[in-house]
Amino acid sequence: MDLMDKIVSLCKRRGFIFPGSEIYGGIGGIYDLGPFGVELARNIKDLWWKSMVYDRDNIVGLDSSILMNQKVWETSGHVESFTDPLVECKNCHSRFRQDLLPKTRGCISCGKNNWTKPKMFNLMFKTYIGPVEDKFSETYLRPETAQGIFVNFANVVDSMRVKLPFGIAQIGKGFRNEITIGNFLFRVREFEMMELEYFTYPEKAGQDFEYWKKERIDWYLSLGIKKKNLRFREHASDERAHYAQESFDIEYNWPFMGWGELEGIANRTDFDLRSHSKASGKDLSYFDEETKKKIVPFVIEPSCGVGRVTLALLIDSYCEDNSRVILKLDSKVAPFKVAVFPLLSNKPKLVKLAQSIYEILKKKVPTTWDDRGNIGKRYYAQDEIGTPWCVTVDFDSLANKSVTVRDRDSTRQERIKIPDLVDYFLKKLS
Ligand code: GAP
Repeated sequence: MDLMDKIVSLCKRRGFIFPGSEIYGGIGGIYDLGPFGVELARNIKDLWWKSMVYDRDNIVGLDSSILMNQKVWETSGHVESFTDPLVECKNCHSRFRQDLLPKTRGCISCGKNNWTKPKMFNLMFKTYIGPVEDKFSETYLRPETAQGIFVNFANVVDSMRVKLPFGIAQIGKGFRNEITIGNFLFRVREFEMMELEYFTYPEKAGQDFEYWKKERIDWYLSLGIKKKNLRFREHASDERAHYAQESFDIEYNWPFMGWGELEGIANRTDFDLRSHSKASGKDLSYFDEETKKKIVPFVIEPSCGVGRVTLALLIDSYCEDNSRVILKLDSKVAPFKVAVFPLLSNKPKLVKLAQSIYEILKKKVPTTWDDRGNIGKRYYAQDEIGTPWCVTVDFDSLANKSVTVRDRDSTRQERIKIPDLVDYFLKKLS
């Protein structure tokens, strides 16, 4: 089995990620998060939100709607330009994204490679608002959350009295009818995005772009992703999105394709605010108190998918050590920090004491309970889930009020007094 097959299998077996609508044969490019996957993704989103919003004084949050007026997508340029080149095999009629053909893993065609000329295929999912299906009720599921931020620009400026430079951060679902899906969570059709639109003075945009590049790569390092697996790559002029003047990707060294996009950082200039201002007739400029002039800010946008960050973390932390499989996730992102179990699940006194410890710990630290199988199997399972510490309640615990704490990565065991446990873990996590 190659690494990706092992990770996909672990994710299903241990309740991280399930194929969407699986009992009906699945649905292409859609995945569901299981009980541990949802915890991992939540930790990623919380850490992003903390680093973007809570740790700063000039960035506020927003949660705009998935469905927007169709004019948003005409004005943003997505109706015309949010396209990928599609080719079809003339022999077997399978369809692929032309620019990804060399990278498409397990390309299911007849192998004749007798392609049609590429035609541009729009990636937005179309839908209708209300009971009548015509061109007036037609709109799209948003392919990026950013437009919700641009159309609320004046609302935020007026209600929050923010001063340039300032940012609006948003986490929410995006939808893209990708032609070629695959590589697990890497390219899917429904995914969560974490996007910051940072509004700044046009003359400061270059400097702020560099600032955000550094901030964002530091964030990935803070999650525990190895430096050697991260790099920047500048987009060539023919690769840039229709709105971008300058773009860099933070790339990860994926096992299935080598270097590829983890996050995009773009200088969107004043393109979006100017376009929406012109099309809606609403003034989307900013009045600068110092110079007493109206300006249309430039926008620096770091944008990433929760799924790609999740996948990078799973790959980066996956480790085989003799017969053990370990997700060496940083404790910040691990779904649960501690697992508590009684040495034997058929000894009521042990179970009772272990449960009382679990009740105390879970109020302070994300803690899970495990009493299935024998102790070896439980360690094995918690290593695969990435739980940094396991607490075992044994017969000595009844006599001397202490427990064994086992460290996931070193497997070293320490004896800790029960009343000291909460502080012990809080210190480890601080
Ligand atoms: N608003 C900017 C924007 O949408 P993008 O580079 O198209 O930029 C941002 O997308 C990020 O969203 C990517 O860096 C990637 O992490 C994630 N992403 C994009 N398409 C995706 C897909 N089909 N499946 C999973 N993640 C995707």
